[in-house]
Amino acid sequence: MAHVLEAGLEFMESNNPDNLPKIKGYNIINGQLKSSSDGATFSSCNPALLSDELGVFPLSTRDDVHEAIAAARSASEKWAATPAPTRGQIIGNMGRLLMDHKDAIVALETREIGKTLKESAGSVQEAIDTCLFFQSEGRRLYGQTVNSELPDKELFTYRRPLGVCGIINACNFPAAVPFWKMIPALICGNTCVWKSPQDAPLLSFALARIMHEAGLPDGVVNLVHGKGSGAGQFIVDAVDEGLINKISFTGSTAVGKAIGEVCGRNLVSCSLELGGKNPLVVMPSANIENAVEGAYWGAFGTAGQRCTSLGNLIVHESIYDDFMTKFMAKVESTRIGDSSRSEDVLYGPMLSEKYAVDFLKGLEMCNTDGAKHIFGNGRITSENAPTNFVGSAEDGVYMWPHVYVDVTEDMQCFHNEIFGPAVTVVKARDFDHALHLANASPYGLSSAIYTNDRLEAYRFKTGIKAGMTGINNSTSGAEAHLPFGGVKGSGNGTRESGIWVIEAYSYWHAVNDELSGKLQLAQMDVDEIEIEEAEIDWNSLS
Ligand code: UN1
Repeated sequence: MAHVLEAGLEFMESNNPDNLPKIKGYNIINGQLKSSSDGATFSSCNPALLSDELGVFPLSTRDDVHEAIAAARSASEKWAATPAPTRGQIIGNMGRLLMDHKDAIVALETREIGKTLKESAGSVQEAIDTCLFFQSEGRRLYGQTVNSELPDKELFTYRRPLGVCGIINACNFPAAVPFWKMIPALICGNTCVWKSPQDAPLLSFALARIMHEAGLPDGVVNLVHGKGSGAGQFIVDAVDEGLINKISFTGSTAVGKAIGEVCGRNLVSCSLELGGKNPLVVMPSANIENAVEGAYWGAFGTAGQRCTSLGNLIVHESIYDDFMTKFMAKVESTRIGDSSRSEDVLYGPMLSEKYAVDFLKGLEMCNTDGAKHIFGNGRITSENAPTNFVGSAEDGVYMWPHVYVDVTEDMQCFHNEIFGPAVTVVKARDFDHALHLANASPYGLSSAIYTNDRLEAYRFKTGIKAGMTGINNSTSGAEAHLPFGGVKGSGNGTRESGIWVIEAYSYWHAVNDELSGKLQLAQMDVDEIEIEEAEIDWNSLS
């Protein structure tokens, strides 16, 4: 056992291609590097190059998770009492360290989850932006002074931390999303137990170490690795045991609902950022080239593995043929491959084999529904590769881009999220029909419309039930200072990112200070001022 700041990286023997390093990873509990209590491990491998094993990590047991929670609970009081500007300084240091090491972290993110280097850089930048945004929040974190209805009495509001936050994030934004959650949690004075995504443990290990280098005291962030059904579940179980004061989760709607139930019955706050079937509407007045660009990026950027990825592409029937011809030309020319070895690829592999299996089930659903399949051929192999696939398909977990048309509201694939490179295309008769279709799925995360009709844009943004809307823009591309989150099946209404997120990690404490030296009763001892009407006819003035 060693302290995180005293131990270097531990390299392991490996047969990795190109001598790529293999790391022995640890949980970080109370600042100490720890293996799992029963010695069990799992490994992380590069989905673009499956023979490349990044490292071996503890498969945390219930005891490990409890140890992490105990560390977070004992660090809680001191961290909450640390002046908020000092907490902000530590967060600023995290941002500066991430800037210093950005290239290395970006390359690691690409190696671990297969995102293109450009997109990994976006995700790491989003984490940096979050640190820079919240560092000064330590100097604000405003409460209010409120006037009392009684004399010689003052009222105040203060933001107070919730306590110990359980942080569970997906692997698709392994830098941005945990920072969206933990940075506001920390600035508010909470401590965290962070369960890393099973497919991005090395990046999480690196980020947690950087957080400690930034000056974070021991026990304030405790990292545990493992399965969602293992370490993740143990954190959620601890809500029932009264040990956790907040859960913040990004992942599937089914798991989110289960977490919400546990939190609900314990009156514990939870932030749930769940799935989406994000609609993008294209109307006749739109700039078609621009709309094609936005729809193409929304559907296939990140190999469709964002929660804001385009789901239902809703195209007005009068421009349908023109739009689809241009859209399909782009889809057919998609360059796919390992961005660390080939330039200019739009997307790389699936995040891991598990995501590939689920994605193929999504395609099966489209086929069973009878949606018309016009492009895409499942998993890419050397015998079954699109024209612009680069590299050796069997090295990784690659998928064709898929397009299904003639999708209708009675089909399952209209309503269910397909996490991966597939888009379902729906024809709309007019604006009202398009808006109806855009609102008809059970989700409400992101949404978009391409139109140059201002009234249509207005009606869309006021009529759509979604947490986010792009006008003449794609469904994805949220910025670190805007509220991120959804309605309906996409979440419970809490937001990530931006100043609004503070509400999710603090509670309001109302304090009254009675200076009069006596008991004055609110409502009852309040001066009552009578109305005294004079004998004036106000109508006589004109
Ligand atoms: C996610 O997919 O969970 O707007 C987050 C976007 C990104 C964040 C996505 N900035 O797509």
